[in-house]
Amino acid sequence: MNDTPEDRPPSSRLARALGLIAAARIGWRGARRKATAAKPSSAAAGDTGSHDPSERTVPANRRAENLVAILLVLGAGCAFAFIAFYIILQTNTQLLGLAMGCALALLAAAAIVAGKMVVPQETSVEPRDQLLKEEAVEEVVEIVESGGEGISRRILLTGAGGLAGAAVLGAAAAPLASLGPPAGSLHQSPWRRGIRLIDDQGHLYAAADIQIGSFYTALPQGGNPDSLGAGVLVIRLPQSMIHLPAARQSWAPQGIMAYSKICPHAGCAINLYRYPLDESTAPFTPAFTCPCHYSTFTPGNGGKLIFGPAGRELPQMPIMIDSDGNLRCDGPFDEDIGPSWWGVRRT
Ligand code: FES
Repeated sequence: MNDTPEDRPPSSRLARALGLIAAARIGWRGARRKATAAKPSSAAAGDTGSHDPSERTVPANRRAENLVAILLVLGAGCAFAFIAFYIILQTNTQLLGLAMGCALALLAAAAIVAGKMVVPQETSVEPRDQLLKEEAVEEVVEIVESGGEGISRRILLTGAGGLAGAAVLGAAAAPLASLGPPAGSLHQSPWRRGIRLIDDQGHLYAAADIQIGSFYTALPQGGNPDSLGAGVLVIRLPQSMIHLPAARQSWAPQGIMAYSKICPHAGCAINLYRYPLDESTAPFTPAFTCPCHYSTFTPGNGGKLIFGPAGRELPQMPIMIDSDGNLRCDGPFDEDIGPSWWGVRRT
């Protein structure tokens, strides 16, 4: 009884298919080898008769060409799909990535197949002169050695050459000084004793304007409002909440205090202020909070850091109330303002 392909078990059919593929591959490689051997090499045709490994084979493989075309078309399809996904499903990054990834993979596969099986394969040998000829080396050595003939002040010229080299190197390195903030600017602020505090509209701040529970941003009258140290936070606290260091007891007239608006962590502008209204709030401590990394400072304790990555307290500026009831700066900050650069010094 004959068994038809349908009667055979799946494993037998698979083995047969693999056998056919292997036989086809062996046959194709043998035919290719014969074609290569039959082709006269250019060396054989040359006058010298020396061995020349130059070789050129033209595959003319229609199946490979078809495969490359299919891969290219599929790649184009994926690329168009990417465009469609981008327009229709703008936020689906997974599909976008999948489409673009497939497109690139298919194009790469097409390039590999084309490189291996479609375009002519060629081995070329380009004749070259010997890289290092002994006579040429000796000639150069002679030229270099003869270059010093007749020079009597070698030490002088060597010194001058070294000096010129060092100067050029120094000139090349000089622009590095432009990196970072200008020297000295880290220790400066536009605040001087007697400068009035104004708001961003230029109106003077009077002590009566400062209410408990609110915070205000003040600028120096006549100063550059864009400079890093210009902005200060102004608040008023009940005397019971003020526990300043001994040296700063006079820095909070009528409970009004001023602190730098620039966070000493990375220089963000502090614009959050909490003032608990319910005494059951724990801790019942008014505090400034930086919105960038939440460093938190308590103005009642001289700007002490109670939370967050800042490495030091918030710089405080002493203020005074003039005879007109307006707020004025009473001296420099207790520390340099701004981010903590390489070791902040006291001003
Ligand atoms: S900049 Fe303020 S906490 Fe980082």
